[in-house]
Amino acid sequence: MKLFVYHTPEQTPSEQEPNCAIAVDVLRATSTMATVLAAGGEAVQVFSDLEKLIQVSEAWSTEHRLRAGERGGAKVPGFDLGNSPLDCTPELVSGKRLFISTTNGTRTLQRIENAQVVLTAALINRAAVVRYLINHQPDTVWIVGSGWEGNFSLEDTVCAGAIAHAVSQQMQTPIEKIAGNDEVISAIALYLQWQDNLLGLLHHASHGQRLLRLDGYEDLKYCSQTDILDVLPIQSEPGVLKAASRL
Ligand code: MLT
Repeated sequence: MKLFVYHTPEQTPSEQEPNCAIAVDVLRATSTMATVLAAGGEAVQVFSDLEKLIQVSEAWSTEHRLRAGERGGAKVPGFDLGNSPLDCTPELVSGKRLFISTTNGTRTLQRIENAQVVLTAALINRAAVVRYLINHQPDTVWIVGSGWEGNFSLEDTVCAGAIAHAVSQQMQTPIEKIAGNDEVISAIALYLQWQDNLLGLLHHASHGQRLLRLDGYEDLKYCSQTDILDVLPIQSEPGVLKAASRL
């Protein structure tokens, strides 16, 4: 198994697809997806375009769908939800499909949707993703951060480092044997520096600061936790993610 870390979807090599691709958007799209599926959501379906989301979700009855729209960290007017994982309670999401469009996270999923296996990871479900990698040993794994509008983000890269570090430790394999690019080493270094204060790191992140300005402290606190949800979101068809245990 070789791991490759890309800080943004734009950095992934064009015209190549890995055996397994992992989308990361700690603040907050992949944290929200893990939360919805752990809370009994039927599936999460992602869109980059808000109009298309509305059009496709029309085919679902209102009891079986939720529409989530986020731009610039804020809820899109007219949508049921923004992108706060804390809104996704079992009472609200159980049995429903979440149709979601966010600024960056959904774009990452679109870039990697043709990989053989597509997963989503956040700090909160890191252990489930690591377990999948160790059990299945895909030859090439891309861990793709969503960043912010094409730029590096601390929170996605620290999560990539948390995954790579755990894989290396649990396989008892030195990191240089599984690192496919230098970004893996730097992501692990970032994680090792901040592993005991991930909430502090999220406060330094530019999107963390944006969310704090939007009163999002509780979201930062929730998304900074590690391994609290045992759920593995996996793509069942392009753009649709389900909990692996329910496929
Ligand atoms: C994104 O896709 O850019 C994010 O998930 C933004 C957010 O809602 O925090």
